[in-house]
Amino acid sequence: MSSTEVKLIGVVGAGQMGRGIAQVAAMSDYQVVLFDINQEGLDFGHGFIKKQLDRGVEKGKWDSSFVEKALGNLKPTTNMNDLKDCDLVIEAATENKKIKFEIFKSLDEIVKDDAILASNTSSISITEIAAATKRAEKLLECTL
Ligand SMILES: NC(=O)c1ccc[n+]([C@@H]2O[C@H](COP(=O)([O-])OP(=O)(O)OC[C@H]3O[C@@H](n4cnc5c(N)ncnc54)[C@H](O)[C@@H]3O)[C@@H](O)[C@H]2O)c1
Repeated sequence: MSSTEVKLIGVVGAGQMGRGIAQVAAMSDYQVVLFDINQEGLDFGHGFIKKQLDRGVEKGKWDSSFVEKALGNLKPTTNMNDLKDCDLVIEAATENKKIKFEIFKSLDEIVKDDAILASNTSSISITEIAAATKRAEKLLECTL
């Protein structure tokens, strides 16, 4: 059995869930690629993370060097191919079967063979999502 050491995390969708997942991962010193198809949504999500981190400085939770490091860990992109080297990709895009199936089909082709894929879906069967890929054994449901 092979094991995957997670160093680079991809997040699909920079909305409410995706930006939170990306923020926590970047603060935990993982390198993070945050992908959204919508530039405006991506900019909003990235700006939101920055605001949250800056607020932490104002509240004395951490200092500005921590913010700089966390933001440095984060790469926002509208190019799905930028996820290709990720060890783990967490999908948090719009809750829509068609959209999610298409995302997983594309991810399956883009990311390396041993990468783990996870979905933050709140209502769609993970078995159905896994069937859109050729790596059902590497598919996780990631609910918060
Ligand atoms: N909001 C919650 O409290 C909550 C809780 C648990 C689970 N979830 C689940 O998390 C997921 C995301 O929810 P949310 O509330 O963050 O949604 P949201 O609407 O805030 O954000 C969705 C983002 O996905 C992006 N997107 C849409 N299609 C895309 C594609 N093909 N590729 C890349 N990005 C795409 C949109 O541009 C948007 O920025 C959903 O599956 C939802 O059911 C949400």
